[in-house]
Amino acid sequence: MAQPQKNEQMAEKPAIDMKDIVALCKRRGFVFPASDIYGGLNGFWDYGPLGVELKNNLRDLWWKHMVTTPPVGPDGQPVQIVGVDTAIIQNPKAWEASGHVGGFSDPMRKCTGCGHFVRGDHLWDILATDCEWLSSLLQEFTPVTGEIDTPRLTKWAKGKGKKLAPNLALVKNPEVTLSFLATRVNGQPDAPPEMMEMVRYLATGQLHTTGLQDPCPLCGGSLGDPVAFSLMFESYTGIERSNTSKVYLRPETAQGIFLNFKNVVDSTRVKMPFGIAQIGKAFRNEVTPRNFIFRSREFEQMEMEWFCHADEAKKWMDFWFEERTKFWRSLGLSDANLQMRKHGQDELSHYAKEGLGTSDIEYKFPFTAPGYGELEGIAHRCDFDLKAHTEHSGQKLEWFDQENNVRFTPHVIEPAAGLTRGVLALICEAYTPDPNRPSGVYLNFHPSVAPKKAAILPLTAKEDHVPLATKLYMDLREHYAVDLDIKQNIGKRYARQDEIGTPFCFTIDDQTRDDKTVTVRHRNTMKQDRISMDSVVEYMRREMALMAK
Ligand code: GAP
Repeated sequence: MAQPQKNEQMAEKPAIDMKDIVALCKRRGFVFPASDIYGGLNGFWDYGPLGVELKNNLRDLWWKHMVTTPPVGPDGQPVQIVGVDTAIIQNPKAWEASGHVGGFSDPMRKCTGCGHFVRGDHLWDILATDCEWLSSLLQEFTPVTGEIDTPRLTKWAKGKGKKLAPNLALVKNPEVTLSFLATRVNGQPDAPPEMMEMVRYLATGQLHTTGLQDPCPLCGGSLGDPVAFSLMFESYTGIERSNTSKVYLRPETAQGIFLNFKNVVDSTRVKMPFGIAQIGKAFRNEVTPRNFIFRSREFEQMEMEWFCHADEAKKWMDFWFEERTKFWRSLGLSDANLQMRKHGQDELSHYAKEGLGTSDIEYKFPFTAPGYGELEGIAHRCDFDLKAHTEHSGQKLEWFDQENNVRFTPHVIEPAAGLTRGVLALICEAYTPDPNRPSGVYLNFHPSVAPKKAAILPLTAKEDHVPLATKLYMDLREHYAVDLDIKQNIGKRYARQDEIGTPFCFTIDDQTRDDKTVTVRHRNTMKQDRISMDSVVEYMRREMALMAK
């Protein structure tokens, strides 16, 4: 797997534009904007007929890998993981205990000029990388000499500045603003202000009353103080809407697992160490949902909480990191597009500050390339959650070790993956431009996730082609998700199957009538073979096993 290298350039597939992926997803029925006929809703997406198949395939493979047939552990024993499916809305006390109420928030600053909200902790990154007026203004300072060219800045303020940053103090009142700056520069001739401070002066209209101001990246107006903006969606239960009836949509599936720790221990025969897994919806009122389904406000997670003794946390952290990486590779994500990254101390969630921290499995999405974006995090949550819920609920969430006659609060290793984000990684990995075929592109899905494994295409809608095609379809659908597509010319039907990532197309023609053979066309190579109709099921089994390697 690739090691972290922020500016790494890889020369495999040509650069892919996300716009093309989004367009294909809509054109072929993978993902649509939610409420499309009403203009959509920012941060919400609907999965179409093929999208839901792809998502369900990924979901089912995860469940198989984690719950139905989990891997063999580092000591050679099979590990034990049970599943749950818990409510999206839980008692609000659960979210106070978990630290989400009050703690799960972003510091937002409102512009007094245009009303735009900016994340306070990202402000200077945004100004440096994504602010049109500042990059234009900075050109007036080159080369940076520490001296202020007043006429030049005044000219900018009255020209470009008016258009780009109408609420910047320098634009509204150049003379006063520049005289503030001059005081600072003249007062400290040996230590001229740094660029960041210079920008603050240029954004400040009333130095004597406000002190230095931070500017809005959109209009240059001054930003208010940071206010915690909760990412939790709120609703109410029952008739009256009050603080006592307020509830939250879960922002992670994990807490439903912790809340049921005792129920699972009391009702099953699990033995420490063991896991509890859950797949389901999560909701976050993200400030800037973006990059298609990468960061949305409603999404799905696949999470497993692995309960073990604190002394064994390291062993299991390493084991699960390895297993989870293998899983993504087994679905066709290439090593060149995967990397592992350990969180820095400043990025860690409250529950992972102690202990072994968090390591992410990252994927090189087209919009992050040459960098990477998080696909799954493997966190050592220590005993934070079970202890917090014990304290808030009064119920002891412990394990009794009968052999040694001791009680302890287990530690937790948590592999937490995004199901919908995983779908995006699978689509991005599969998307392969190819100017040599009519569709110009095909989806090179791993056969285990491809929504359709084969299509049966009668060459013409002639009477004798269709019944033979239907017979093959009826046989194959017993084994695989397959399509029978009868109308349109064969080129268009191949193009459709290429764009939805179907590994095989079986074509029925006049020869089929005579010798009961069909043409098989391979998606990736477009190579065609002739095989007996009776051997199609066996052929697919063999070929898909080969493709999966
Ligand atoms: N229980 C731990 C937890 O929720 P997280 O890193 O916040 O950790 C886990 O989320 C995974 O969920 C992420 O790695 C990502 O794949 C997915 N995820 C998080 N926020 C998301 C969003 N707004 N849209 C889509 N997927 C998201």
